[in-house]
Amino acid sequence: MAKKTLADLGDLKGKKVLVRVDFNVPMDKQTGEVKNDRRIRGALPTVMRLLDGGASVIAMSHLGRPEKATPTERENLTMDRVAEKFSELLGKPVKKAADEVVGPAVTAAVAAMQPGEVVLLENLRFDPREQQNDPEFAASIAALGDTYVNDAFGTCHNDNDASMVAVPAAMKAAGKPRAVGLLVAKELEVLDALLTNPKRPFLGIMGGAKVADKIGFINALLEKVDHLLIGGKIAFAFKKAQGVGVGSMKVSSEEILAAQPLLDFVGTKIMLPVDFVAGRAADTSPGVVTRICEGDILMGLEGADIGPRTVAMFVEEIKQAGTVIWNGPVGWFERPAYSKGTRAIAGALAASSAVTIVGGGETAEAVEQFGVADKLTHVSTGGGAFLAYIEGQKFQSLAQIDDK
Ligand code: 3PG
Repeated sequence: MAKKTLADLGDLKGKKVLVRVDFNVPMDKQTGEVKNDRRIRGALPTVMRLLDGGASVIAMSHLGRPEKATPTERENLTMDRVAEKFSELLGKPVKKAADEVVGPAVTAAVAAMQPGEVVLLENLRFDPREQQNDPEFAASIAALGDTYVNDAFGTCHNDNDASMVAVPAAMKAAGKPRAVGLLVAKELEVLDALLTNPKRPFLGIMGGAKVADKIGFINALLEKVDHLLIGGKIAFAFKKAQGVGVGSMKVSSEEILAAQPLLDFVGTKIMLPVDFVAGRAADTSPGVVTRICEGDILMGLEGADIGPRTVAMFVEEIKQAGTVIWNGPVGWFERPAYSKGTRAIAGALAASSAVTIVGGGETAEAVEQFGVADKLTHVSTGGGAFLAYIEGQKFQSLAQIDDK
């Protein structure tokens, strides 16, 4: 059943709209500033549409994992810098409502809001009840707004976050409407089309660090794609499971066990690298000496990128594809010596006329770094949510949104 979107909310003049955004953005540990504002930019169309319609916006998000942070780290997880960046990108003042998540100061700040104004609540996870899906906490948040909008695709898989589930439930109990924002609507439209009717050949590209973490995603992809290209650190779990030497790379037995059952697909659906760029991992100098390894990687070396033969093979596959989904860089792309593979994949996707979809924080960063993000069909704002949606998980957060 299709979900209500902004267009279904009717006249919002004078309404206070609670917008759950995903401003869980990387922060610079030294300067405390927002390192990548992609998720904030992603929510701007929804916020601007609401403000243009005469509403005021109460935005709310979590930032990081304060429950695991030291007191100093926690200080860097307040929403102050995020509010500054949000304000700069929106071109309007954005005040943080108060230093508390809910309470009298927040209620007063929201009561004083005028149409066209925006406030941002303090980091939702500063209140432990956020991750307990606590109904009382949710009711205090729900009381702030007349309407609820979920524009936080990256957090949609979190079934225990009050702002995602219990808040819209409380809004419903109070007879207040609930819709998805423009960002979530676009994510669902693109990913649903990909899952139901992909243009073939359908190609998957996987990289990143751990097979065990992505096993559900890989299995789901194998059911859908025609071919799956594997690069990144996860390729070494497959290689080790095949008995190939992986040099000094540490591959845990958990990783090998996860890769083992997938070996049946190698050579049919799964394509593994045939060569790697390897070097001494401890050598982080720009002039690090690297060598191309085919077959076993020698002890003392670690593979950190796919090699030139693999790049050519993968690029050829991309050229033939009708749809490509990519999650996980195929090498240590932040380091120039090991960036060629990821750069080549990004370039091939940009040059392709296929439907090209990229998901996961690091992969999204890579396509931005290589300047191709706007040449792709869709760059998802989801990390875990992207993987979970493709796996076919049903999200409680979306179940809470009103049907059309
Ligand atoms: C993400 O970055 O994937 C989302 O913001 C969810 O964050 P979490 O993994 O801390 O729940």
